[in-house]
Amino acid sequence: MTSLTIARPDDWHLHLRDGAMMRAVLPHTAQHFARAIIMPNLVPPVVTGAQAMAYRDRIMAALPEGMSFEPLMTLYLTEDTDPDDVAAAHASGLVKAVKLYPAGATTNSASGVADFGKIRATLDRMAQIGLPLCVHGEVTDANIDIFDREAVFIDRVLDPLRRATPGLKVVMEHITTSNAVDYARAQDDSLGATITTHHLVINRNHILAGGIKPHYYCLPVAKRESHRLALRAAATGGETRFFLGTDSAPHTDANKLLPCGCAGCFTAPNTMAILAHVFEEDSAMDKLEGFASRNGPAFYGLPVNADTLTLTRTPSPKHGHVDTEDGPVTVFDPGFELNWSVQ
Ligand code: NCD
Ligand code: ZN
Repeated sequence: MTSLTIARPDDWHLHLRDGAMMRAVLPHTAQHFARAIIMPNLVPPVVTGAQAMAYRDRIMAALPEGMSFEPLMTLYLTEDTDPDDVAAAHASGLVKAVKLYPAGATTNSASGVADFGKIRATLDRMAQIGLPLCVHGEVTDANIDIFDREAVFIDRVLDPLRRATPGLKVVMEHITTSNAVDYARAQDDSLGATITTHHLVINRNHILAGGIKPHYYCLPVAKRESHRLALRAAATGGETRFFLGTDSAPHTDANKLLPCGCAGCFTAPNTMAILAHVFEEDSAMDKLEGFASRNGPAFYGLPVNADTLTLTRTPSPKHGHVDTEDGPVTVFDPGFELNWSVQ
């Protein structure tokens, strides 16, 4: 196979940031992706419909002339979220999902949820109106080992929450374990799960063996190899509940390379080339379109993009880093040559 044309892909989990960083990274996503679910973990977070509208306007203003891209906005769920505001933002077509961060789980999650009883009215309302909940699925309990936090979250938080809210559409985001794959497979179609590009490529050895590699550190942290293989099987196996959410999360090198560095892998520029490599390696090139372009829209009840993207079997240049006014941002290095590129 030397070329593959698929419906234009979407990214169902993306950090665009704001200001100078957004201006630098947005073109890399818009070049390949028609739409993306935009994470609301700005400082301060995007909590209300009015804030989401203002953020969408800033994104559109930052989009270079001649590029087309549709940001699918989300609201950051807090214990003070107003269900009426959420419902209005959804009814207007602006907001496509609500994001649940357990308080303290990851970058800019301080305003997230600690008392799950306090979000009950919003969850019930979302179930009524068919608005999906995107979940960062990790417990934050200091006593739980960081490599176990996703599996424990499923048992302690996610499953009880779903049972208490029948009909609520939930996306398990950036899953990293075979536990999450197994749980997802056993549910009805109200449950979807996104998988990042980097979690298909790295395991925890990449972060920790032979010297610490901050550019491979993200949350949820990559797990052992058996979990990576379970994610690969889920992504390349053609099951419709699994779809691409890159979690491309740019931080400047200055903020990554610290004694306490930020979590996040920046994969927007080379995600499609890496995915072509991964799906080819697993003899699953015919499944790439489902994973990147079809399963996500089906879950969200949106049309598949009418235009296309073509990958050719020609080497991609190494991406190195993207310059921003705040300093360079290192692009995720998959650790192998990229034999595919986007035409
Ligand atoms: C994300 C970020 O930097 O905003 N970081 C990450 O490691 N994925 C936050 C998140 O999605 O957890
Ligand atoms: Zn994220």
